[in-house]
Amino acid sequence: MDLSVRIGQLTLRNPVLVASGTFGYAREMAGIVDFSRLGGIIPKTITLQPRRGNALPRSVETPCGMLNAIGLDNDGVEHFVQHHLPYLRTLPTALVVNIAGKSAAEFAALAERLADQPGIAALELNLSCPNVSGGLDFATEPRLTHEVIRQVRRVCPLPIWAKLTPNVTDIVPLARAAEEAGAEAISLVNTFVGLAVDWRRRRPVLANVTGGLSGPAIKPLALRFVWQAARAVRIPVIGIGGITTLDDVMEFLVAGASAVQIGTANFFDPTVTMRIADALPEALATLGARCVRDIVGTLQAD
Ligand SMILES: Cc1cc2nc3c(=O)[nH]c(=O)nc-3n(C[C@H](O)[C@H](O)[C@H](O)COP(=O)(O)O)c2cc1C
Repeated sequence: MDLSVRIGQLTLRNPVLVASGTFGYAREMAGIVDFSRLGGIIPKTITLQPRRGNALPRSVETPCGMLNAIGLDNDGVEHFVQHHLPYLRTLPTALVVNIAGKSAAEFAALAERLADQPGIAALELNLSCPNVSGGLDFATEPRLTHEVIRQVRRVCPLPIWAKLTPNVTDIVPLARAAEEAGAEAISLVNTFVGLAVDWRRRRPVLANVTGGLSGPAIKPLALRFVWQAARAVRIPVIGIGGITTLDDVMEFLVAGASAVQIGTANFFDPTVTMRIADALPEALATLGARCVRDIVGTLQAD
């Protein structure tokens, strides 16, 4: 069974990647996860300057999921290049670096800094972090989505994956804006804005008040977005949201995802990604498929 998938210029060993922010910078998972069995790794978002993130508490469990408001806590791009990248580029899987800026110019500056670094397969633009004050949500407005991607494109030859937010009424204009601006893939979804309440204290549970909902609770919502976006654009859509099992992965592929990322499930089952990747051939064979592409977007909804 051929598990490889093409995402733009890139060929991944298999369609199962780990999602940004849920796998650290991979060192944390060495010894637990065999990286060579993953389609790719996307480390935690990096920004131009170091960020402390939001005040504690910044995550809480919810039924079938969790809310987080980490606030892009990271040590900045220089630390990433000096400290994390030399390790990450040695790993036997594709490395997709996720970046976020406060402006299109900041995204471009980050991309420029990373453009000539060996070992990076693609850049994923986090256009959609819901937990950062000061308007980091570029992906609610097609014009801004387009502008950020256009500016990154100009300074950086690496393939661009646009990670979009589900906190919109209609994903189609945003997916199209990303495609027109030159993104090679769309990553869908980031977290859904939610609220946890401590009614006894009459306080929000999270210091940031709201947070992003992830985990199995969001899977049907994410599937709907992926299905709609995949029908609207020609570039591949990478499905994200609540994926925990082999069946979940198959559902996303049939709904139109060319690959998937697994996030929250890594926290309670760190080996989930490689086990699902190993089990994929059998599930594909059930549908008579010879490769992953045979089933992508084969949902018969009409
Ligand atoms: C604790 C936590 C931290 C996250 N940090 C990031 C991040 O830094 N950058 C990013 O693009 N997405 C981040 N995400 C979003 C995930 O990559 C993913 O899009 C989302 O959680 C939905 O997938 P899941 O339901 O499989 O977790 C984070 C999610 C969680 C739970």
